[in-house]
Amino acid sequence: MFGLKREINKSFAWKRLEHQAKRMRKTEMRSMFDKDPQRAEKYSISLGNMLVDFSKNRIDDKVFAALLRLAKEAGVAKRIEQMFAGDKINITEKRAVLHIALRNRANKPIYVDGKDVMPEINRVLGKIKDFSDAVRLGEFTGQTGKRLTNIVNIGIGGSDLGPKMATEALKKYWAKDIKCYFISNIDGTACAEVLNKVDPETTLFIVCSKTFTTIETLTNARTCRRWLVDALGEPAVAKHFVAVSTNTEEVAKFGINPENMFEFWDFVGGRYSMWSAIGLIVAIAVGYENFEKMLNGAYEMDQHFRTAEPAKNIPMVLALLSIWYNNFFGIRNHAVVPYDQYLRYLPAYLQQLVMESNGKFVSLDDKFVKYQTSPVVFGGAGTDVQHSFFQMIHQGTSAVPCDFIIPAISHNEIGEHHEILLANVLAQSEALMKGKTVQEAAAELKAAGKSKEEVARLKKYKSFKGNRPSNMIVFKKIDPHTLGMLVAMYEHKTFVEGVIWNIDSFDQMGVELGKQMALRILPELQGNHESVRHDASTKALISFIRGLRK
Ligand code: F6P
Repeated sequence: MFGLKREINKSFAWKRLEHQAKRMRKTEMRSMFDKDPQRAEKYSISLGNMLVDFSKNRIDDKVFAALLRLAKEAGVAKRIEQMFAGDKINITEKRAVLHIALRNRANKPIYVDGKDVMPEINRVLGKIKDFSDAVRLGEFTGQTGKRLTNIVNIGIGGSDLGPKMATEALKKYWAKDIKCYFISNIDGTACAEVLNKVDPETTLFIVCSKTFTTIETLTNARTCRRWLVDALGEPAVAKHFVAVSTNTEEVAKFGINPENMFEFWDFVGGRYSMWSAIGLIVAIAVGYENFEKMLNGAYEMDQHFRTAEPAKNIPMVLALLSIWYNNFFGIRNHAVVPYDQYLRYLPAYLQQLVMESNGKFVSLDDKFVKYQTSPVVFGGAGTDVQHSFFQMIHQGTSAVPCDFIIPAISHNEIGEHHEILLANVLAQSEALMKGKTVQEAAAELKAAGKSKEEVARLKKYKSFKGNRPSNMIVFKKIDPHTLGMLVAMYEHKTFVEGVIWNIDSFDQMGVELGKQMALRILPELQGNHESVRHDASTKALISFIRGLRK
């Protein structure tokens, strides 16, 4: 139903792009800028106060047209409509993919199996509003009547990375006396470090797990529950624990009253769930009004994605550029660098979004794909990362396409900090594009008074090949609305890539094997079983670690 008629790497557009890539390998962005004064304008798209300048990419009109043709041949437009219509485009799990319904601000019905999903979504949104208001106003208190001001989110993967990233991104909007914490890792240190900081009387735990079977989350939640019960007794659980899940039965089994449960649905993937009650901590921290503004921002991007023509469609263009380098230049990575301290968890969030969605090797028509799918996504906050991996981005043997994310105004305009920050990001992108030839490096060294020998010795080391691509994503300020736009932009970009690669971006079967094996190893490590079913390395490691832990 969803597979392509012809493998995408055999399509006309793909072949054309292979041909164009050969030509583009010899073309310098520098000269394309020199020849075309309209280039920046031509290859920029704006939406609201957001501007995406993709002019510093190795493209020209022919390449751009071929990329757009690839999207057409892959049937992207049709699949977008299928997603918005609630069709079961997650074919392996036979599920609809409706994170867009969570922020369907027009409230138009969306049907799954003949049933409109909007009334349920609106009911839970109402519940999020009531509960977050009650916690913030001190109407929902802890067991001893104190306000709940320490909010601890227990979850992992999509039940952690999204809410954690968004909560941090919107820190300036937090209620003054509310503090947020996140426990995700099974490493006891994660739990211990948070529990050392909070007071049971004022702490609310939100246990987030779509399945409510994830070992890390349940183990952490049990530890926190014990800690609370030790301090305040069993009845305190009802006042200090809520759950967000699709699995009412398991929530009840865990000992959380289903009345304290916020539902979501199997048509929302974990890594696409921060718009649901998984974002409860965001709503408590910044207030429901701001949470709604974030949904509004995502909705604006959804509408843009659904209606803008492909050449002016931000997620579509970003996806095509990513495919351009990944599949036609053999570049296997992509860096995301927000120049905003509050966005520092965005790269970690995007790692799951992109790599869990598109790190796949089986196509929708049940074949092993013959081309590269997801790149490795990495990144960190600028300018910190300029002093870590940027050496490689500038002078490494392979280019690393970068997304630079840039708020024109900081929430903390102190002296000239933000102007220095902005100057840096603009300089990075210009330097990556222009580079510095060996001759230019030599001339600079000479002008600095270096001897002839020194110039000859250093000129290559001081040169930069340039022609390295970057996208500039600029907006006014990181507020709830803009954050919503930004995250939805990346969700849709990831979706388009998956459609073109003809893979299911909405399952994550690749995480299962390791989980299964860990369950087998656990009793062996604990010394209850002999390790007999492993390779020699794993067996020896189990025995060595057991020895160390004696
Ligand atoms: O890593 C696998 C995964 O299933 C992710 O997709 C998900 O976000 C995470 O585990 C947590 O799952 P859950 O919300 O069901 O606890």
